[in-house]
Amino acid sequence: MYRPAQRLADIEPFHVVELLTRARQLEAEGRDIIHMEVGEPDFPTPEPIAKAATNAIKSGKTLYTQALGLPELREAISRFYDQRYGVSVPASRIAVTNGASGALNLAFACLADPGSEWLLTDPGYPCNRHILRAFEGRPQNIPVGPETNFQPTPELLRQHWKQSTAGLLVASPANPTGTLLTLPEIAGLAEVCRDKNGHFLVDEIYHGLTYEIEAPTACAAGDDIWVINSFSKYFQMTGWRLGWMVIPEAYVRDVEKLAQNLTLCPSTPAQHAALAAFEPETIAILESRRSEFRRRRDFLAPALEAIGFRITARPEGAFYLYCDCSALADDSFALAKDLLEKTGVAATPGLDFGSNQPEKHIRFAYTTGVERLAEAVERLGAYFGR
Ligand SMILES: Cc1ncc(COP(=O)(O)O)c(C=O)c1O
Repeated sequence: MYRPAQRLADIEPFHVVELLTRARQLEAEGRDIIHMEVGEPDFPTPEPIAKAATNAIKSGKTLYTQALGLPELREAISRFYDQRYGVSVPASRIAVTNGASGALNLAFACLADPGSEWLLTDPGYPCNRHILRAFEGRPQNIPVGPETNFQPTPELLRQHWKQSTAGLLVASPANPTGTLLTLPEIAGLAEVCRDKNGHFLVDEIYHGLTYEIEAPTACAAGDDIWVINSFSKYFQMTGWRLGWMVIPEAYVRDVEKLAQNLTLCPSTPAQHAALAAFEPETIAILESRRSEFRRRRDFLAPALEAIGFRITARPEGAFYLYCDCSALADDSFALAKDLLEKTGVAATPGLDFGSNQPEKHIRFAYTTGVERLAEAVERLGAYFGR
């Protein structure tokens, strides 16, 4: 008997997985594939973090911690808010989680009633709508485009807010576009959410990976905002599965109860490792890698534009370029497949990020070195006859 829960019908796989499978096949046949579909840094976890993990394991720090995480790590994250943003966030409001994914799961488990609707940007990070669906909430898209920097505005929010709307989730910098929200913009969205008696969640997973300015934290716009972050991207710990969430005070106990039941605790060795993430020695490594990401973006963006891709909003952060490819092809999914076959360049088609003109867009990640990016540009140029 095969009888999954009905919600499974609404949960889609990543379309890019199909391309990845094909990329692996081609690699097995000896083809050289340039991976620009990958959403994780290509750098290894900084050495001080890795060392802290081995020390923790060797000294037997492998048992469960408190459900909301090691008190000293929650304190270290609290100090990080103070040092980096000048914002006071008490450790008591910080939950350490299994990545930003774990934080999003806990947030929606805590807040989403069956049938409640949640405003999400389209394009946006695809897992959000599926996590929401797993907790019986309903995603409600706000189509966003270059005219609003691919972010919602208070006007758009009011326009889309319905009786059944329970809240809004945004990301800054966003995936797939890399665009940011300023603090006044965050405050404007928060005001509408308050006015509508709704929840406001801000995903700050790409903080630290911005190239002109520091992204402001939503923690500075009110202590009623749920702020999600992770050790995955800036700290380059994707596989360690560690993140955190700043929770409005009234919900801390609820999240704690959920965490106790859903996960018991985040990985203990990973938490001990993360204690080294905020050390000056680690930050120096991370900042030099941030400069490298910037160098890649500054090389790749004009090179893709010279081929005919259009970048319609300035990608200020993350490590993605979300390109309008409509001048080059009618269907970005078919284009991504053909590029892989004919040039060995793997990119993510717009289809993975929603239903707002996905056929016109393709995402290139600069999670590979400048030389490989240059090789990719050369192959793409030849493909398009530029
Ligand atoms: C916007 C966004 N949020 C959350 C996640 C989940 O990341 P993790 O669970 O590794 O922290 C990702 C991963 O790519 C992402 O792009």
